[in-house]
Amino acid sequence: MSFRAFLLALNLLSALVFGSPVISGKDDLVEILNAHENFNDGSIVAAFVDELKSLSSSNKTKCEQCVTRLAIGKSLSLLKPNLVPKVFTKWCTETGYMSNKTCIATFSRNTVESSNTGTNFADMLSLMDPFGYDGQLYCNYKESGACPKPLTPNVSLSHMWPEKQPKHSIAPEPSNETFNVLHVSDFHIELDYTVGAEANCSASMCCTPHSKNSVSNNNTDQHKWNSYYNSSYTDDSFSKGSLIDVFQNSSVWAPATTFGNYKCDAPEILINSSLDSIAQFSKDNDINFDFAIFTGDLVDHDEISLTSYEMTVQSEEIVFRDIKKKLADVPVYSVMGNHDTFPYGELAQENHGFANLFSWNAELMADLWEDYGWLGPSESQYARKHYTGFSVVTKKGLKVIALNSNVWYKKNHYAYWNASEPDTFGQFQFLIDELVESESKDQRVWILAHIPFSSDVLPLPSKLFAEVVQRFSPYTVANIFFGHTHLDQFEILYSTSGEDAKTIENVVASSWISQAVTPWVNNNPSWRYYTVDEKTFSIMNAYNFYTKLNETFTNDGAEPVWEFEYSSREGYNITWPETSPLNATYWHKVASAINNSVEANQLYRNYAMRFSPYVPDCAKSTGCADDYCYLTSFTVDEYDACVGSSS
Ligand SMILES: *[C@@H]1O[C@H](CO)[C@@H](O)[C@H](O)[C@H]1NC(C)=O
Ligand SMILES: *[C@@H]1O[C@H](CO)[C@@H](O)[C@H](O)[C@H]1NC(C)=O
Ligand SMILES: *[C@@H]1O[C@H](CO)[C@@H](O)[C@H](O)[C@H]1NC(C)=O
Ligand SMILES: *[C@@H]1O[C@H](CO)[C@@H](O)[C@H](O)[C@H]1NC(C)=O
Ligand SMILES: *[C@@H]1O[C@H](CO)[C@@H](O)[C@H](O)[C@H]1NC(C)=O
Ligand SMILES: *[C@@H]1O[C@H](CO)[C@@H](O)[C@H](O)[C@H]1NC(C)=O
Ligand SMILES: *[C@@H]1O[C@H](CO)[C@@H](O)[C@H](O)[C@H]1NC(C)=O
Ligand SMILES: *[C@@H]1O[C@H](CO)[C@@H](O)[C@H](O)[C@H]1NC(C)=O
Ligand SMILES: *[C@@H]1O[C@H](CO)[C@@H](O)[C@H](O)[C@H]1NC(C)=O
Ligand SMILES: *[C@@H]1O[C@H](CO)[C@@H](O)[C@H](O)[C@H]1NC(C)=O
Ligand SMILES: *[C@@H]1O[C@H](CO)[C@@H](O)[C@H](O)[C@H]1NC(C)=O
Ligand SMILES: *[C@@H]1O[C@H](CO)[C@@H](O)[C@H](O)[C@H]1NC(C)=O
Repeated sequence: MSFRAFLLALNLLSALVFGSPVISGKDDLVEILNAHENFNDGSIVAAFVDELKSLSSSNKTKCEQCVTRLAIGKSLSLLKPNLVPKVFTKWCTETGYMSNKTCIATFSRNTVESSNTGTNFADMLSLMDPFGYDGQLYCNYKESGACPKPLTPNVSLSHMWPEKQPKHSIAPEPSNETFNVLHVSDFHIELDYTVGAEANCSASMCCTPHSKNSVSNNNTDQHKWNSYYNSSYTDDSFSKGSLIDVFQNSSVWAPATTFGNYKCDAPEILINSSLDSIAQFSKDNDINFDFAIFTGDLVDHDEISLTSYEMTVQSEEIVFRDIKKKLADVPVYSVMGNHDTFPYGELAQENHGFANLFSWNAELMADLWEDYGWLGPSESQYARKHYTGFSVVTKKGLKVIALNSNVWYKKNHYAYWNASEPDTFGQFQFLIDELVESESKDQRVWILAHIPFSSDVLPLPSKLFAEVVQRFSPYTVANIFFGHTHLDQFEILYSTSGEDAKTIENVVASSWISQAVTPWVNNNPSWRYYTVDEKTFSIMNAYNFYTKLNETFTNDGAEPVWEFEYSSREGYNITWPETSPLNATYWHKVASAINNSVEANQLYRNYAMRFSPYVPDCAKSTGCADDYCYLTSFTVDEYDACVGSSS
């Protein structure tokens, strides 16, 4: 929206609210701001709420209403930003626009106690263009498809790199030596996990003191679980605690057991158990890890109103402490997930006025990672200035680039202003600078981020990331790693879009999406390690390990048993040369098998969820319907087109 258009909107409102004359220029705006410095907040709130309400009863389309609401909100955000949360919460609850709980989580002011995002909403309004791409995008993604998904702008980053040389158009040949790299993801520590609490809850997070089943129970012996111990890992050993009498509370359907449950995030003891199984495996098999990668999410999925600043910081500190304790000298390269921020999902650009709300996190991570010896001083300095992102060169000469995907997250309010600009956060600049530098030295690179680009991020950054990957594949970008979905997955990038283009000739690159340690929701806890070619850093194999969580319900409090699940090279019975890495062509063959047979699809689903009791039957249910689309789409637009969704 132009300044003039904005003033017109502001005029309308100022006439309505203040009865003041038409504003004709910037000076008048300043005058209005000054004149109404002490205007009664109560009457402003009432007037704005009325205005929003009358919009709801007008005959404008949902989309027009949403966009106009943003414009009204924008005027207010420039006049009295601190009133925006009040106005929108009141309008939302009084009109029943969403449930009261959601209204409060979305629009109320954030405090240290709760992760409400109204303050960030107001920040966004003050910067966004409601009548352009910003407004359409917001009203599609943040307001349940009130507007149709707008066309993704045709912008490119190609001015940011030199032309590709022929020698960088083929991947280097692997040597015959490998080393090992550990990949862990999505711990999601549930700090208030309580043995005996409701594990079969009706809403939000189970296994907490506030978890409830909406149907009252009158039968406490309907299952055979018996592992209700107050156990823990002390320095180097497991110590089984005392039995807790969970059956005192007859209203609980399924009392939470010691090591976790399928509808709960990970109790700390499960995190310790996973790390302990890694250390044990390493020791027993004399397999050492050169380094580990962690692809994000430390904090649990509890309700927004129960997610506090304190709990966020504590979760981050405790999980990293436990990792350090068990992995000892193995360097860990981490990225932050959408849960690893406060308020949930938010992150503001440097240099646009709101970055200081988030700098605590980059400071904390930079300090912690440097203290633990995972990053050197200059790298941690880098993390401080790049939203916790950094670049590090390993002893063997591989560059690892860590990105913060919240920059592109569809729930992050700050990603919605100037959304047709490719790089308001400057993170693409950082990524491309690093890639150009590596390419000039024939150095190979691994890229780490939390959220894969085919869903949950905004369409433009998703498309641009694909453009970057295509430009720097297959030579410079050796591998890409994500977490976030909690499923063991991969994703393939093809050189052109469309279903017909998904051919072996068009394969460009692929990414590794790691399974999670948290069982939430309906998965077995799991981790993996890679055998990596010494010379090219291509991945030769991935070995996946898991524990059958349900076995810990009935084993009288014994430790979980972690076992080998499958290896990526052998797991799909694909014909593939022993000396070739598991590159995008390999994964294309796996995806084609999944597309062509329900048995292969079932195999993938079993692995994705680690043979949990909740794996759908691909032959009988629709639970596997979108699997092929997911695996063969690298961008949001490709995925949407593939599943035939129009919004
Ligand atoms: C409803 O829409 C019609 C035309 O589409 C317009 O003439 C009329 O003024 C509108 N009514 C209101 C209350 O906005
Ligand atoms: C939601 O909040 C509004 C306004 O405070 C109140 O009138 C309404 O009763 C609440 N609805 C529910 C279901 O609690
Ligand atoms: C971008 O280009 C494509 C192909 O030329 C076209 O179909 C699409 O409409 C364009 N998008 C926009 C937003 O202009
Ligand atoms: C790799 O090395 C092993 C022994 O170290 C040898 O048995 C094998 O044949 C070699 N493979 C290739 C492809 O060179
Ligand atoms: C029993 O469990 C319910 C949740 O199902 C909880 O609200 C209640 O406080 C518990 N009672 C006691 C005495 O712990
Ligand atoms: C629970 O069972 C007892 C005895 O069978 C019965 O009197 C009581 O009404 C039941 N309570 C509920 C909530 O169903
Ligand atoms: C579990 O044990 C710890 C220390 O051993 C103790 O502080 C805590 O109160 C115990 N919790 C329960 C529920 O028994
Ligand atoms: C987990 O391990 C850490 C580090 O060894 C230890 O301090 C903590 O008490 C353990 N917690 C549990 C619940 O096992
Ligand atoms: C979970 O609770 C529902 C009622 O909300 C009940 O129908 C179901 O049987 C319960 N499942 C278990 C395993 O207790
Ligand atoms: C693996 O593939 C081979 C050759 O395609 C086939 O003969 C064999 O039956 C397959 N094995 C399994 C377990 O699917
Ligand atoms: C993957 O490796 C195979 C065998 O080395 C090679 O033919 C193919 O071109 C590679 N694929 C990509 C996308 O680099
Ligand atoms: C755990 O779940 C798996 C998968 O459904 C099942 O095969 C196994 O029997 C279960 N184990 C127990 C102890 O219930």
